[in-house]
Amino acid sequence: MTPPDGTESKLDDLLREDRRFPPPEDFRARAHVSDESVYDEAEEDMLGYWARWAEDLAWFQLWDQVLDWQPPHAKWFVGGQLNVAHNCLDRHLHGPRRNKAALIWEGEPGDVRTYTYWDLHREVSQFANALKGLGVEKGDRVAIYLPMIPEAAIAMLACARIGAIHSVVFGGFSPGSLADRINDADARVLITADGGYRRGNVIPLKRNADEALQQTPSIEHVVVVARGWDISRTTQTTMQPKRDLWYHDLIRDASADCPAEPMDSEDILFILYTSGTTGQPKGVVHSTGGYLTQTYATTRWVFDLKEDDVYWCTADVGWITGHSYIVYGPLANGATVMMYEGAPDFPDRGRFWELCAKYGVTVFYTAPTAIRAFMKWGEEWPEKHDLSQLRLLGTVGEPINPEAWVWYHRFIGGERCPIVDTWWQTETGGIMITPLPWVTETVPGSATRPFPGIQATLLDEAGRETNAGYLAITRPWPSMLRTIWGDDERFRQTYWSKWDEPGTYFPGDGAKQDENGNLWILGRVDDVLNVAGHRIGTMEVESALVDHPAVAEAAVVGKTHDVKGQAIAAFVTLRDGKEPSDELVVALKAHVAEVIGAIARPEAILFSADLPKTRSGKIMRRLLRDIADGKALGDTTTLADPEVVARLKQRYEEEGEP
Ligand code: PRX
Repeated sequence: MTPPDGTESKLDDLLREDRRFPPPEDFRARAHVSDESVYDEAEEDMLGYWARWAEDLAWFQLWDQVLDWQPPHAKWFVGGQLNVAHNCLDRHLHGPRRNKAALIWEGEPGDVRTYTYWDLHREVSQFANALKGLGVEKGDRVAIYLPMIPEAAIAMLACARIGAIHSVVFGGFSPGSLADRINDADARVLITADGGYRRGNVIPLKRNADEALQQTPSIEHVVVVARGWDISRTTQTTMQPKRDLWYHDLIRDASADCPAEPMDSEDILFILYTSGTTGQPKGVVHSTGGYLTQTYATTRWVFDLKEDDVYWCTADVGWITGHSYIVYGPLANGATVMMYEGAPDFPDRGRFWELCAKYGVTVFYTAPTAIRAFMKWGEEWPEKHDLSQLRLLGTVGEPINPEAWVWYHRFIGGERCPIVDTWWQTETGGIMITPLPWVTETVPGSATRPFPGIQATLLDEAGRETNAGYLAITRPWPSMLRTIWGDDERFRQTYWSKWDEPGTYFPGDGAKQDENGNLWILGRVDDVLNVAGHRIGTMEVESALVDHPAVAEAAVVGKTHDVKGQAIAAFVTLRDGKEPSDELVVALKAHVAEVIGAIARPEAILFSADLPKTRSGKIMRRLLRDIADGKALGDTTTLADPEVVARLKQRYEEEGEP
């Protein structure tokens, strides 16, 4: 198969990468497990291996069967009962962890809050009771639209405690995107805040929520966290009597005694929406026992977490990384989790490093797009701070270019910290392909090999094994998505129907394998973009553009970007009588940001009287990508009107980015 356009040459560069980084000896000596036999053990008895991990958790009732696999539907730990909040909190209360910091949080303005496991358990229980008081029952959906404040984790855990299904919506999404997600899940309660700080500004979440709430009939109550009274003044928070309630009022009178609801291993823990190849985001459904088992296991081995670590994952709780590796995986391990509200460059570009020094962060997990930004800002920023406590670094979200990897290793890791490049997805729930820092010799740019127990391979279009093709997961894994909320058919079609062999999962990524067996993930092969580590469907952006009264047709493609990885380029055909103008470019960009959220704002818009299409009417994205990247044109013979492309390309070159 042909890898995604533009990745072939990138891949050649990657495969020329011959720097090798064996695990440091002292690191290996201290690690939980320090030899490769774990891979063989997992292979010999995959079910026994996962069952051993599950046995580390606290179950109210043990399972009768480890796996019931009726492709594409899997049930893990069938018949078992447990509660995720109980595993993340209650079971740490009986020993010294009781008084250990579970969460160390710093707000962007510099305010600090620390919760011990005791504190966190208490507040989660109180809020869980408060939710019950609002009528929330097991199986009900609760939408969470919060900034990166402790209450985000508390709200998730409170839902888990009473068996309510949470749906966290990233705070950067627009009111319309929030409303769509609330309506799709039919949520009863929304938890939001008056605002949150970002780069010195206040994001008015409650005001956005109020706009969304005009179209969300299922919402009965809105719980509002007061992030700060000054914020409420600046965002002019208004509360609708009876419907809207302040979080602190609810907590004040709530009892801290809230027994954790026994949940079936397969009960749904959460829904998380993610972009796909249609205009409509998919509600990825994760369940309880398998999800917790894999996030627990991967957190333990990939991050080698120890009792005295201070672990910081810079993701937002609105994404899967925040769910699995800020909240559930680390807390199930009894770790100390750092959480920061704001931007990495506020008040200056050294903020992350200042935080690492201040809290003695030992394990740091971030995205390649952030690393590329740090590189651009220069090593003088990390050099101002004491990063000597760091012992392990991680990346996730997109392919990392070897230069960024090496920079990260040198200037953040002081050439002593192993780097784990972890490949996984919203759908996989937990890490799937990754080095194990205590055994794997790493190569910059490669996620190396599957986590023990996971089986991944590369297949061509016909389902034959190859060393360059589509990434495929060929065996079920505990934290796999169970379905798409309300659309099991889409679940089958999207992930399980690419090849004839039943039970072969198609993640949508292209990859290669080198002669040492290392996997190199190249990126998406479908119409999903990865902009600064955020997944955005081209169709979503196209629908947002076509929603504007001046637009007749739009085609959106990814354009290579040195910091964001990909940026959005849109080719737009206007309606009759509408004229291209700079003002319209500005208006269209703003319109997309308003409809979806700022993360989807196109970087470049190019007007075109026509779009290049095949004879059957399909837009030829490959050509548009080439134009957006300023590359030589590919084969245009299948085009209805080859002239269109030639003209477009010429215009793009002349005008550059509008
Ligand atoms: O293309 C892959 C890329 O991110 C996609 C998943 O996006 P999302 O569901 O938003 O989850 C991101 C955080 C887990 C994948 O299909 N991706 C993720 N990690 C890597 C990666 N690409 C290359 N290397 C990675 N380490």
